[in-house]
Amino acid sequence: MSKVVSYELVGNIGVITVDNPPVNALSHALREGLQSAVNAAQDDASEALVLVCAGRTFIAGADITEFGKPPQAPSLPDMLVTLENSRKLLVAAIHGTALGGGLETALACHYRCALPTAKVGLPEVKLGILPGAGGTQRVPRLAGVKAALDMMTSGNPISAPQASEMNIIDEVVDTQDLKAAAIEYAKSLVESGAPLKRVRDIKIDAGSIEPGFFAGYRKKLAARARGQIASDRIVSCVEAAVKLPMDEGLEVERKMFMECVQSPQSQAMRHVFFAEREATKIKGLPADTPVRDIKRVAIVGGGTMGGGIAMCFANVGIPVTMLEISDEALERGLGIIRKNYSITVKKGKMDEKEMGERLALISGTTDYNDLASVDLVIEAVFENPDIKKEVFTKLDAVCKQGAILATNTSYQNVDDIANATKRPQDVVGMHFFSPANVMKLLEVVRAEHTADDVLATVMKVGKKIGKVCALSRVCYGFIGNRMLTGYGRQAHMLLLDGATPAQIDAAAEGFGMAMGPLAMSDLAGLDVGYKARQAREAEGEVMDPATHCVASALVEAGRLGQKSAAGYYKYDPQTRARLEDPEVTALIEEHAAKLGIKRREISDEEIVARLFYPLINEGALILEEGIAQRPSDIDIVYVYGYAFPAAKGGPMFFADQVGLKSVYESILQFQKELGPKYWQPAPLLEKLAKEGSSFAAWAKTQS
Ligand code: CAA
Repeated sequence: MSKVVSYELVGNIGVITVDNPPVNALSHALREGLQSAVNAAQDDASEALVLVCAGRTFIAGADITEFGKPPQAPSLPDMLVTLENSRKLLVAAIHGTALGGGLETALACHYRCALPTAKVGLPEVKLGILPGAGGTQRVPRLAGVKAALDMMTSGNPISAPQASEMNIIDEVVDTQDLKAAAIEYAKSLVESGAPLKRVRDIKIDAGSIEPGFFAGYRKKLAARARGQIASDRIVSCVEAAVKLPMDEGLEVERKMFMECVQSPQSQAMRHVFFAEREATKIKGLPADTPVRDIKRVAIVGGGTMGGGIAMCFANVGIPVTMLEISDEALERGLGIIRKNYSITVKKGKMDEKEMGERLALISGTTDYNDLASVDLVIEAVFENPDIKKEVFTKLDAVCKQGAILATNTSYQNVDDIANATKRPQDVVGMHFFSPANVMKLLEVVRAEHTADDVLATVMKVGKKIGKVCALSRVCYGFIGNRMLTGYGRQAHMLLLDGATPAQIDAAAEGFGMAMGPLAMSDLAGLDVGYKARQAREAEGEVMDPATHCVASALVEAGRLGQKSAAGYYKYDPQTRARLEDPEVTALIEEHAAKLGIKRREISDEEIVARLFYPLINEGALILEEGIAQRPSDIDIVYVYGYAFPAAKGGPMFFADQVGLKSVYESILQFQKELGPKYWQPAPLLEKLAKEGSSFAAWAKTQS
C-alpha cells in the first residue's frame, strides 16, 4: 500500500497499520498513506476499520521537521476529514503516546480504545503552537471546556484511564495483544449496531458556561504563560468552539495555528525540542556504545542536594544508599527527604502508599564499606576540593571495580578529583541543579580520562531519572555557572550605575526569565556568594568592589535575602511579597559615590543587553574552547538549568535571532562606554559577526 501504511482484512475488519519509526510522526507519506487506506477500504468487504500503530507508540504527533517547509497535500486537517467521514466505523487503537496530531487523528476516528499504560495529550503549547487539526474543537466537545483548556494550556499528557473518565477514550483494554483486542472491539460495535460517532456532532451547551469564564481563565493563565501567545490563542479557539459551528471553529483554529507556527516564539521552542535530543548525543561516541548496568546507587552527603538526588533515583525505583558522617547528619538528611515527600502527598500529587514505597528504597549508612557493591556513587558533599578528594580516595578503596564514581561539584576541577583515585576512567561529573528532584538539567562533566561507556551510561541514567542532559568539559563553573558570572556581575554594576533592584528584575522578567537576578540572589541567600568571595580572597584573589560591594554590605547589615526577610528587597513576612526598600537605595547610592560612579537613568533596553550579552559572549568562548559540544547544548543548559525563556530558545539561539553583528556591535559600544575590563568580544563572536554568520551555521561546520 505505502511504505509506512499497510492494510489487511482480518475477517470482517479492515486493519490499517501505521509503521513510521521512530515515533510514527505524521509525515507527508504517512498522511497520504492513511488517507488512501481509508478511501480504499470504503469499497472492500470490511464492515469496520481499526487503526493501529507498529513500534513503540501510536502516532506521536505532526512531523515537527516539516514545520516551516512548504505544505504538501493532503494536509493533516484534510486527511482527518477523510477519516471522520468514513462510511465504515473506524476505531483507533492506542498504545504508547498519542500526542498532538496523533491524538487529533484518534479524535477523528469514531471510537477509541487504549492500553491502560497509554498516554494521550496535546503538548503543542510546549512547541509554541496550538493543536491545529481539530483538537481545540473536538476535546471541549468530549471533555468539557475547562478540562479541555487545562489539558491544552498545560500541554501535559494524561493516562488512558484518566482520558476515559474525560470521555476522550471509549474503552481501556488491558491486553497483551492490542491489535486483536481492537479487532474484537470493532466487531462488537458492528454487532451491536453502534452508530458512527463523530465528535463534530456533539453540541457544547454554551449556556452552562458562566459569564466571564474565559476572561477569568485568561487572567490566571497570563501569570503562568509569561507572554507566550500560543496559550492565549488556545483560549480563543475554545471560545470559538463554544460560539461557532464546527467548520467555522476549525477555520479559526487553522488561522491561529498558522499565526503561531510562524512566530519567533514557536521557532525558538521547536529549536529547544530538537536541541534537547541532540544534546544527549556525544560527538565521537557511537550510538551503540555499551552501557554499564545501574541497579543500585549511593549518594555521599545527605544535605539538600544529596537528598534531592536520592529522591530522583527512588522515584524511578532504583534503590539508594545515602552516606553521612554521623548518625545525626544522616537522620537530618533522611528527615528532609521524608518531609519533601509528605509535602507532595499533601498536595495530592502522590499517595501515602507510593511515599512508603519510595522511602523504602532509600537507606542510610555512615560506613563507606556499605558502598562496596553499588554501581554508581554520586558525591554531593561540601564544595571544598580537599574534602572531595578525600571522599574519592575512600570510594576508590571500597567500591567494586567498574563502579562509576561521580561528583556533583558545581565548580571544582573534575580532573583533580579523578586523579585522587587509581581509576580516573570511571570518574565523571554529574552536576545537578537545586532542588535536584525538581530541576530538569543534568550537566554531565567529561574529565580528561572519563571512559566512553561511563559517559554513555550516565547519559542513559540521566534520561531514566527524568533529566535533560548536556555535556560539558572541565572548566571553572562548567557551562552554566561559568556563563552566569558575567550576568550576576552586570546586575550588580547596573545597580551602581543608576538602576534599582526592582527595575533590573522587572527588565529580566519582562525578557521572560522566571525571576530577575537580584530576586534570585535573595532567594538563594546572599551569604552564599559572600562566603565564596571570602574564600577566594583568602586565597589571595583581589576582587573588584564594583562587582560585589552592595551585595557584601547587605550581608554585613544582616540582610541575607528571603531567609532574613530582607536582602535587595524587604519581604512581607506573611505573603513573602517583595517590596522596594529605600534603605537599599541609600546603600547603593553610598557605594556608587565611594567608587566615584555618577548614577544615571538606565533604560530597560540597556539592562537587557548588559545582562544577556555577557552570557552570549562567554558562550562563544566556551564553544571556541570546546567546553560545550555545540551552541544548542548551551541553550539547553540555560533553558533547563536557569529558567531562560524557552520562547527565546536559549542564549545562543536568541543571539542568532538578534543577529550576531548587532550583539557584537553592542559589546563594542559597552566597551567604549563602560571600559574594556568586562567587555571584550569573544574571537568567535567577532569572526561570525564580521562574516554575517550565526552560531547555528557555525555549528554545522563542526564535525
Ligand atoms: N516529529 C519529528 N520527529 C520527532 C517527533 C515529531 N513529532 N517526536 C519525536 N521525534 C524524533 C526525535 O527528534 C528523536 O529523533 P532522534 O532519535 O533522531 O534524536 C526520535 O523521534 C525519538 O524521540 P525521543 O528521543 O523523544 O523518544 P522518547 O521515546 O523518549 O519519547 C515521545 C517519545 C514521547 C513521543 C517524544 O518524542 C515526544 O514528546 N515527541 C513530541 C510529541 C509532540 O510534541 N507532538 C506534537 C507535535 S505538534 C502537532 O502535532 C501539531 C498539530 O496539531 C498538527
